[in-house]
Amino acid sequence: MPDPVAVNSMFARIARRYDVANHLLSGGVDIWWRRRLVHAVARENPLAVLDLATGSGDVAFALSRELPASCRITGMDFCQPMLDEAVIKQQSGGRGINITFIQGDGLALPLADASFDAVTLSFGLRNMADRHQALREIHRVLRPGGQLYLLEFSQPYTWFSPIYFFYLKRILPTIAAAVTGDRGAYEYLCGSIEQYPGHEVMAGEIRAAGFGSVEAIRMMMGSVALHIGHK
Ligand SMILES: C[S@@+](CC[C@H](N)C(=O)[O-])C[C@H]1O[C@@H](n2cnc3c(N)ncnc32)[C@H](O)[C@@H]1O
Repeated sequence: MPDPVAVNSMFARIARRYDVANHLLSGGVDIWWRRRLVHAVARENPLAVLDLATGSGDVAFALSRELPASCRITGMDFCQPMLDEAVIKQQSGGRGINITFIQGDGLALPLADASFDAVTLSFGLRNMADRHQALREIHRVLRPGGQLYLLEFSQPYTWFSPIYFFYLKRILPTIAAAVTGDRGAYEYLCGSIEQYPGHEVMAGEIRAAGFGSVEAIRMMMGSVALHIGHK
């Protein structure tokens, strides 16, 4: 699993260009993936949501737009430069007034037991040094009946796999190097996606952390999955 010091400094290096690179490299569909996540959360009318590994805050801002202003949203990440980008957006756009951005480690959440109705985690778990520990921590801070919404890369349908990995390994690092000036960060991205489990194994890991039932919604020919785990 990834080295947390290396991951933290890598996100610190690319923080300023993170949003642009994301939208460009995904052809803009990352916005649609996050929207699916946010709509699933909004259906449950939560009063308190933790957006873990919030990064530059896009999921937190989307939640803030979709949920009532009375909903308390906490955006947490261990990389301060990524959080700084989120705060700049919050202050310059006058949006997300119900969001508090806080630094914190997903492996040891500085949060009370059973204090959230929902936890969202978008493209963060793959980067954590111990994803089993992170899932246990999420389970701990959820109240009984609360839900985890995990959006992450996954393993694509067999027929799509060669096209997908050709794009990931050959095309994406070149475009990313041009946009962010950091080819290494995006070679890491490809490696981390390739080694990441498919949706069935992931569902098993979520259940092993204590969640009672888990559903998986596959998107983009299986290359992305939204797992919803019920505590
Ligand atoms: C690919 S970004 C995802 C950001 C955002 N959720 C999104 O959808 O764009 C991954 C984020 O995970 C954060 N991260 C990695 N390990 C972490 C940990 N142990 N605790 C908190 N954040 C972590 C990184 O700092 C980075 O901001």
